[in-house]
Amino acid sequence: MKTMLNVALPKGRLGEKVYAMFEKAGFECPSIKENNRKLIFENPEKNVRYFWVKPSDVAIYVERGAADIGVAGKDILLEYEPDVYELMDLDIGKCRMAVAAKKDFRDNPQRTLRVATKFTNITKNYYSSLGRDIDIIHLNGSIEIAPILGLSDVIVDIVETGTTLKENNLDVVETIVPISARLIANKSAYKFKGDLVEAVVNGFNIAERE
Ligand code: PRP
Repeated sequence: MKTMLNVALPKGRLGEKVYAMFEKAGFECPSIKENNRKLIFENPEKNVRYFWVKPSDVAIYVERGAADIGVAGKDILLEYEPDVYELMDLDIGKCRMAVAAKKDFRDNPQRTLRVATKFTNITKNYYSSLGRDIDIIHLNGSIEIAPILGLSDVIVDIVETGTTLKENNLDVVETIVPISARLIANKSAYKFKGDLVEAVVNGFNIAERE
């Protein structure tokens, strides 16, 4: 049986860009463009199989070996710290992780800061590096509402264009870390399917230079 490279792609706009990079690198799979409900596609001629998964789940598939490689945002890698190799910065899906607050927010360092976020681990690490006591309020979305309703003092969230903050009268207080999409690999697949993984990395490098 042929060795296939199993690739977890993040479903959505970023995933379309990522697939185009694989295509350019010589790992095309024409059927992927024909059906938008199916989740698994393969091209045995190119030894490749693609899965569309939720962007925040890519790292889980790769860590556990259900996928050999995948593309995940640096935000997810910092938040979940999966045991995978980070092979390459793809320089797409660029945004930043930032602290934001209402325009009139004034911090009082004597008080515990209430922080609403989806990214609990990143938030804890950031404030512990500053030696600041915080009360984390974990939310799953629409984080921007929290300071408006007085649920939190600040938020930690992804800022891309800044439109969401602007529309909700919030300002960036501080950037924590720049974010972009990364090519990640399962540790044993990196060893046992090294040739295929290397072909992807080389293909991406060549495409980048063209
Ligand atoms: C992210 C983030 C912000 C928004 C920022 O949400 O949580 O709400 O994008 O983008 P902007 O600076 O360009 O306005 P996303 O759309 O990824 O969905 P989510 O709420 O499910 O995280």
